[in-house]
Amino acid sequence: MLDKKVSELLNDQINKELYSGYLYLDFSVYYQEQGLDGFANWYMIQAQEERDHAMLMLQYMQNNGEHITLNQINKPDKVCKTLKDPLGFALEHERYVTSLINTIYDAAHAVKDYRTMQFLDWFVKEQGEEEKNAEDMVKKFELFGTDPKSLYMLDNEMAGRTYSAPSLTL
Ligand code: FEO
Repeated sequence: MLDKKVSELLNDQINKELYSGYLYLDFSVYYQEQGLDGFANWYMIQAQEERDHAMLMLQYMQNNGEHITLNQINKPDKVCKTLKDPLGFALEHERYVTSLINTIYDAAHAVKDYRTMQFLDWFVKEQGEEEKNAEDMVKKFELFGTDPKSLYMLDNEMAGRTYSAPSLTL
């Protein structure tokens, strides 16, 4: 059994990760409609990764005998007006997710739940990568996104992203 607060936060995080996936799916749809299939691919894969994050949280709770409540997933609420908008929203969102992971970590630390802290270590590291990726996307777009030829090449680069399952096993 996990501490009640830790369990509630982990349960909420399942929903938050699924929302992240939904948000990135929305970005993928946006880019596909703009003719940028590479960016659409990048966010489609990102959506898959977010679902993986949710499944890891769910599996961890199940492994600890916790009851899971699946709540309603909010509608993606970002309005993209320019090609750069999703990139900025994604960076902002990943910083927010980092704060959520840190909050769960704090709650686990407060009750000396070392097992959950160890589980969350992977997510702490992952958030570092997620933020860096999001920052890099913004920087690259600022450098190359306004020139059509460069944007075409950048889109091709994004098209090369392939899915790989998370390295964490439970
Ligand atoms: Fe699940 Fe993008 O963090």
